[in-house]
Amino acid sequence: MRNIIVGGQYGDEGKGKIVSYLALNDNPEIIARGGVGPNAGHEVNYKGKRYPMRMLSCGFVNKNARILIGAGVVVNPEVFLKEVELIGGNPKRCGVDFRATWLTREHIERDSSQTPGIIGSTKTGCGPAVMDRAGRIAKTVAECPELKPYLTDVVKEIHQAKNVLIEGSQGFMLSVLYGTYPFVTSKDVSASTIAADVGLGPKDVDEVIMVVKAYTTRVGGGPFKNEVKTEEAQKAGMQEYGTVTGRPRRTSFELHWDDLKLAALINSATQIALTKIDVKFPGNAKVRKYEELTGEAKRFVEEIEKRIGVPVTLIGTGPDTEDIIDRREKIL
Ligand code: GTP
Ligand code: IMP
Ligand code: MG
Repeated sequence: MRNIIVGGQYGDEGKGKIVSYLALNDNPEIIARGGVGPNAGHEVNYKGKRYPMRMLSCGFVNKNARILIGAGVVVNPEVFLKEVELIGGNPKRCGVDFRATWLTREHIERDSSQTPGIIGSTKTGCGPAVMDRAGRIAKTVAECPELKPYLTDVVKEIHQAKNVLIEGSQGFMLSVLYGTYPFVTSKDVSASTIAADVGLGPKDVDEVIMVVKAYTTRVGGGPFKNEVKTEEAQKAGMQEYGTVTGRPRRTSFELHWDDLKLAALINSATQIALTKIDVKFPGNAKVRKYEELTGEAKRFVEEIEKRIGVPVTLIGTGPDTEDIIDRREKIL
């Protein structure tokens, strides 16, 4: 089984929490990250502790799994090594493909001076590192002595394994090709690119799980439909702050249906994981059975399935890894 998790909106859909649940429940041998780089912030709450992750997959909660980073990702060695420590400091658990791009301090500096301010970049150096890779002047991690113990051939490892989980980053509307260009990140972040990032071809993938939050948020510049004022978002309990930059996220109470339909199409989404239904509809916190959701919440799930044409198989009902309804056995 090779499953890919992607974001269906503007990132921050709660991919980290979904990945942590699947890591524990489906017990993959390998959990690998694709996507851009340390501009991503994935947060997981596990056994009472909060883990904000930028480079390593939130699948680390499964202690038996290898935690890998694919060739397509730009890697900041400092962030990587800090996170290896955070998850227990066992170097044998973690690996980086030797072909991945080395993100340096110079890239971070250039992100502040070069990337147009209106984009609202995370200024983590990702855009300049991706540019240097395209310009064929970037170094690869193979040249970084600190990363030597972690270098591996992710392609070989992934193709030898039977059960693999791939964590994408950002969200469809931030794709440099299909998102709200130029207010986007520096790469395409749809499932095909995430697969290529870790060395999988289009026919190697079984399920594409697109994560959709029950409302829409965006951090940084660019167009955003039906945006509400911060006070309104606060009143509704939907005001969020960025994991990496701490910036307030912009909020829309609605789902942007046309964008989601395009996201499902281009990602080849086979399942939707819906997060934060408890935030949108009070009375659903910590529910673990579909039948126990309120009528309002169930009608919302049905509407998503009808309008997007993809089954909602996982439903997040709280911040904890275990706060989830898993309908996969019943409806797939
Ligand atoms: P990705 O970038 O997609 O991984 O999401 P993120 O981690 O940046 O999202 P965000 O910071 O908004 O969300 C993370 C927090 O929301 C974590 O503390 C999660 O545990 C929590 N969370 C995730 N899913 C749910 C859910 O269904 N309900 C609630 N109440 N909280 C959730
Ligand atoms: P950059 O990729 O850091 O240059 O940021 C470009 C745009 O994408 C900015 O609007 C960022 O806020 C946004 N962005 C990049 N990564 C993420 C993410 O992981 N979550 C949400 N927004 C992101
Ligand atoms: Mg995030």
